[in-house]
Amino acid sequence: MKSYKAAFTELLEKQNRVLSILNTPAHNPTGYSISLDEWKELTAFYTEMAKANPDARIIILCDIAYIDFAGKGEDARAFMPLLSGLPENVLPLYAYSASKGFTMYGLRNGAIICVAPTEEIAEEFAAACAYSNRGTWSNGTRGAMQTLADIMSDDNLRDRFIAEQDFHKGILQKRARAFLDEADKIGLKLCNYCDGFFISIPCENPKAVSDLLMEKNVFIVALAKGLRFAPCAVSEEKCRKAPQLILDAIKEVAGC
Ligand SMILES: Cc1ncc(COP(=O)(O)O)c(C=O)c1O
Repeated sequence: MKSYKAAFTELLEKQNRVLSILNTPAHNPTGYSISLDEWKELTAFYTEMAKANPDARIIILCDIAYIDFAGKGEDARAFMPLLSGLPENVLPLYAYSASKGFTMYGLRNGAIICVAPTEEIAEEFAAACAYSNRGTWSNGTRGAMQTLADIMSDDNLRDRFIAEQDFHKGILQKRARAFLDEADKIGLKLCNYCDGFFISIPCENPKAVSDLLMEKNVFIVALAKGLRFAPCAVSEEKCRKAPQLILDAIKEVAGC
């Protein structure tokens, strides 16, 4: 929080405009979700910065790609009211993807939602998006948009969809639990995980550790400062076995 605020302040002083992208809840690659208390602190900070710099323009873009796999019920959306009613020079945006929640990866469908403080800003935002989207992609994928509209406008389909999504969310949460419990038991250090498709393991020489794990048929992505394990992609049983294999590989690469 301290370094985020410092970097934000420095950028605002330098540029008089800041676009801050926060991937929450269920951040990729750590699985961290910004808590409600942290959101309160953040929104108070944005308000203070916006009031102290009335000519500045601040955009807070929440990348909520994984929101449907976070928390219980609607809990993951509890922070949203905190982002309304901010000063007019703060524009909160939500970037939504249908790839995860609707398991629609290949269809490339998503949305950008603006919580505009005034009608004029909403219109300006809609025009800017329409022009830049037309110029970049021509149009969104019609089949995917129609599928979402059909599901959401039919009570029966919507209920079936929510039940199916809950079922898959439950599987993911059980797999992640298995990994976390085992990691805790054997002392494998992880980044703070709350929810989501991925868990990060900080370590030295991530590429060497990932190559060694590959020889043992464990496929794990090497990040700049650690490894990314994907409970979304392997069974609960494998999630339980993985922490020991990872810990052994980290120790072997470190020569201990
Ligand atoms: C954090 C995050 N945001 C957004 C996306 C966008 O997904 P898509 O381009 O499939 O809509 C992804 C996909 O992996 C993601 O991990």
